[in-house]
Amino acid sequence: MSNLKAQVFLDTNRTIASISPLLFGGFAEHMGRCVYEGMYDPASPHADDQGLRKDVMEALRDQTYTVIRYPGGNFLSGYNWLDGVGPKDQRPRRRELAWQSTETNQFGTNEFMEFCKRVNVAPMLGVNMGTGSIQSASDLVEYCNTPSGTYWSDLRIKHGQHDPHNVRYWCVGNEMDGPWQIGHLDAVSYGNKAHEAAKMMKWMSPDIQTILCGSSNDRMTTYPEWDRTALEIAWEQMDYLSMHYYAGNRENDTTSFLASAVAFERFVDTLDGTLRYVKAKQRSKHDVYLSWDEWQVWYKGDPMQGKWAEAPHLAEETYNLEDALVVAQWLNVFLRKSHVLKIACVAQIVNVISWLHTRADGILKHPSYYAFKLVSNYARGEALDALVKAPQVETKEYDAVSMLDVSASYDAETQKGAVFIVNRSEKDSVTTDIVWQDGKTVYVDQAWQMAGTDPKQVNTWESPDQLTAKSISAPKIEAGRATVALPPLSFTVLTTHTA
Ligand code: AHR
Repeated sequence: MSNLKAQVFLDTNRTIASISPLLFGGFAEHMGRCVYEGMYDPASPHADDQGLRKDVMEALRDQTYTVIRYPGGNFLSGYNWLDGVGPKDQRPRRRELAWQSTETNQFGTNEFMEFCKRVNVAPMLGVNMGTGSIQSASDLVEYCNTPSGTYWSDLRIKHGQHDPHNVRYWCVGNEMDGPWQIGHLDAVSYGNKAHEAAKMMKWMSPDIQTILCGSSNDRMTTYPEWDRTALEIAWEQMDYLSMHYYAGNRENDTTSFLASAVAFERFVDTLDGTLRYVKAKQRSKHDVYLSWDEWQVWYKGDPMQGKWAEAPHLAEETYNLEDALVVAQWLNVFLRKSHVLKIACVAQIVNVISWLHTRADGILKHPSYYAFKLVSNYARGEALDALVKAPQVETKEYDAVSMLDVSASYDAETQKGAVFIVNRSEKDSVTTDIVWQDGKTVYVDQAWQMAGTDPKQVNTWESPDQLTAKSISAPKIEAGRATVALPPLSFTVLTTHTA
């Protein structure tokens, strides 16, 4: 192990864009144990008066989520929202085809709204563009957002929900480019259907914002042509284009995996270019932004089909240190791309592909839980354009990449800032000078670090706190410069204020 040197230059005048609070969102799907036994578990000693898991909600509040997308995912494309509203004893049990599970419908739209209120997040609902019609999409908007005096709003009131839910964010379908999707469409058919659905939805509730399904990942053979085609058809009715991406270390090539930010940035750059192209071609004044509404590490091979069980264990990944360092880079990319990326939802908030696992009697937090929590709590204001001078790491997948992956933020109103640094080297420490170039007097308030020697290290039910974000002593800033020791395989966060 050698000790290398690096420099990170920051200037609060050199900004990228405002950081959208909606970048710290989550995704909840009727899949496996995300909803049942995760969010909703009346049998648990941790359930509240509505059967919602208090310990899960507290963990989500600690992560300061801002928005939660629901109810799917692939589940959405076979879902009739009417199954999930009204008296619980009259709701149908159904075979759910996307995950081959039995859906009891004991949790639906109104329970989700209550969950959002208790966690203090904005709801983001999806409308079914697989088996669903544009009429049923518009009906759901009416049910949720019209105050009263119409068929669907009065039905909501009859269901005990006097006040409208005022749902602002609406996903028009899910992964409609994927042949695995129930009711999969080609780009032209989907673009037309989404355009007409969004038109009705916005006529019904003019303040809503709509999200068009983009490519399911950058390996789709239709990527990025799908995105261009659907955007050209639906541009004026849409506010966001969705991105989905799951990262993994299938080849057990940790060095390349730890450089995943390169792939994340390329994905954003391509779609950013696509948005600019379509806007120019349409001679439009309207802007469409990116909504990365499914992102996570997912590759460890847990089952994905439920054999018609209720709440089967599906895709319950156990995350390790290298996964957490990839999550930290992902969040750095969100800040670095904050000019175009305005929404992001980690898939999923609990149990399924999640850094939070439940048993009836408690929860386990995987290392990436802490990485997200640090960034979602401290990245505020504007993203700074950090200049990084660091040694490089050679990777098979991405050639040479910087050893350090960095993002930073500064909120001019509170005069608080934060710096987020991943050292992706597996063996080298990097002594790093952080230099504030704008002449202001800066103080470090707090510093945290997550680090380990084994990229495969995990937290377990028996030893749940192996990998957390540990508080470390805050470095002093002298003449605008602080020196921090960044061990290999580490994520370091500093929070600052200016005098
Ligand atoms: O999050 C799990 C699944 O991954 C979602 O249902 C789908 O949209 C994606 O393929």
